Amino acid sequence: MMGRRGVLFVFEGCDRAGKTTQCRMLVDALCKRGIPAEYMNFPDRSTAIGKIINDYLLKKVELPDKAVHLLFSANRWELEPVIKNKLASGVSLIVDRYSYSGVAFSAAKKGMDLKWCWNPEIGLPEPDAVLLLNLTEEVSAKRGDFGLERYEATDFQRKVKSNFMDLKDSLWKIIDADKPVENLHVEILDIFNSVYESSAGKPITVLKA
Ligand code: TMP
Repeated sequence: MMGRRGVLFVFEGCDRAGKTTQCRMLVDALCKRGIPAEYMNFPDRSTAIGKIINDYLLKKVELPDKAVHLLFSANRWELEPVIKNKLASGVSLIVDRYSYSGVAFSAAKKGMDLKWCWNPEIGLPEPDAVLLLNLTEEVSAKRGDFGLERYEATDFQRKVKSNFMDLKDSLWKIIDADKPVENLHVEILDIFNSVYESSAGKPITVLKA
C-alpha cells in the first residue's frame, strides 16, 4: 500500500518574526518523531534565478519592480517539480516564505497591486496551512536593528504587514509571535499535528485566481 503524502506547511510574516527559527525547530521535532520533513525557503538563493534575486536584495543590481517580482515567482516555479515530488513521496515541507511573501512585499511598492502580483503564483502547489507569525513593532524593535538588505525598513514592513492581512483567508492561522520561542514551538507543533491528520487522503491542490 502507498504511504500518505506529505503536507505543505508554510510560514509567513514580516522580517525578524522568527520564521526561520520556528521552521527549523519544527523540522527537528518532526524528524525525531519519525515524520519525514524537510526545510525549504524562498527565495532559494542557490539557484541561477536565486543568485540574481540575492544580488538584488543586497543592492548589487537594480531591476524594475515587475521584473524582480516575476523572478521571485520564477524561483518558486523552478522548484515546483521538487515540491510536488517530495510531497508525493511522503515528505512534509516546512516552508519559510512562499507566494504570499511574493505578493505582500512586491505590492508594498508604488504602482504594484495585489491582483497583478498574484497572477504568476496561480497553479503552484497550494499549502495545507499558512501560519502568519505576527510580531508587534515593540518586540520587533527589541530584536535589534534591521539588516542592510532591501526592504529592511520599518515603513516598508508596515505596508507588508497590512498586505498580509489583506491576503489572509479563513484557513490562515495568525500566530502571536511575541511569545517566547519555546511556547511558540509547542503551539505550532499542535497546529501541524491537526493539519497532518486532516490532510491524510486529500489530494494536493493548486493556488487559484
Ligand atoms: P529572507 O530574508 O527570508 O531570505 O527573504 C529575503 C527578502 O525577500 C525578504 O525581505 C522578503 C523578500 N521576498 C520578496 O520580496 N518576494 C518573495 O517572493 C519572497 C519569497 C521574499
